[in-house]
Amino acid sequence: MMRDAYGRDFSYLRLSVTDVCNFSCSYCLPDGFRKKPGPSFMGLDEIRRLATAFAALGMWKVRITGGEPTLRKDFTDIVRTLKAIDGVKLLATTTNGYKLAKNAQKWRDAGLDAINISIDSFNAKTFHDVTGHDRLTQVMDGVEACLDAGYKSVKLNAVLLKGINDQDLGNFLDFIETRPVSIRFIELMRTGDNGDYFSKYHLPASHITEQLEASGWVQKTREIGAGPAQEYVHGDFAGRIGLIAPYSKDFCATCNRLRVSARGNLHLCLFSEHGISLRHFLQNDDDIPALQDFVRQSLTVKKATHFLHEGLSGGTQKLADIGG
Ligand code: 5AD
Ligand code: SF4
Repeated sequence: MMRDAYGRDFSYLRLSVTDVCNFSCSYCLPDGFRKKPGPSFMGLDEIRRLATAFAALGMWKVRITGGEPTLRKDFTDIVRTLKAIDGVKLLATTTNGYKLAKNAQKWRDAGLDAINISIDSFNAKTFHDVTGHDRLTQVMDGVEACLDAGYKSVKLNAVLLKGINDQDLGNFLDFIETRPVSIRFIELMRTGDNGDYFSKYHLPASHITEQLEASGWVQKTREIGAGPAQEYVHGDFAGRIGLIAPYSKDFCATCNRLRVSARGNLHLCLFSEHGISLRHFLQNDDDIPALQDFVRQSLTVKKATHFLHEGLSGGTQKLADIGG
């Protein structure tokens, strides 16, 4: 297991496979995806070598992110390849759900264990306003397809947005009364590109937790190795609610993750200034041990927290660049 200078253990790799996205979420890609110059995205062999090295270092949970990861033509091969790696015990992805209804079973069969689907609202108009696409029904069909396909975990991600979806808690609760689905409310994060948007729409997670606590939801005690979400449960509901509040005190104390961008740059934090290129270690299976040494060494300079409180959001322009 890799441990950093602050005693944190790292078990969770977030691996982006593309920056491309077909949605234009107002907080992420308001003008849609624009191609940027730079190296190509990692190919299947590079992804395999990378994940092999990280898994050997004890990173047993891997999430495929983007952009929209399922836009990769070889997405199913990526799933199959990652699942076959020794030490990868839980394979997950985060998707906008666009291709889910058709593919949920195929990806489950290829080895995908867990899935997070971004749905900021159950109101079709709000969904359209936020994502730029009138696809709520299609995405919801995808969620049901995942439940039918027997995923170990199905979660919905909703970014909390003042005046946009802050009245929607009731709809989310209705949905999880009978379905074993976790809803993750994520506080809007400030990135390089969305400063004005952030000032206008950021809402603290307490907006949700106060309503939950007033209606009988209780916060679960954190399990060892759990990520930074605060989880709530209620006896009358099959599903759960999680809150991700990056601006809360001690959020970073439980950090257990490292990120690699689609172009093969290691990001020690979502909000670090620079990525560290790993690409030269990914061209040959013989370089996997050297990559492990390099990652272990790089981790020694991981900082205790992000600097969002000081208004510094680091080098990340938008989450689609390095994987949310
Ligand atoms: N703040 C919070 N969440 C964000 N996401 C994308 N950009 C932001 C942001 N600025 C979320 C998406 C998706 C996940 C990958 O990250 O909604 O659920
Ligand atoms: Fe695409 Fe996700 Fe960004 Fe929305 S948040 S534009 S789905 S990458």
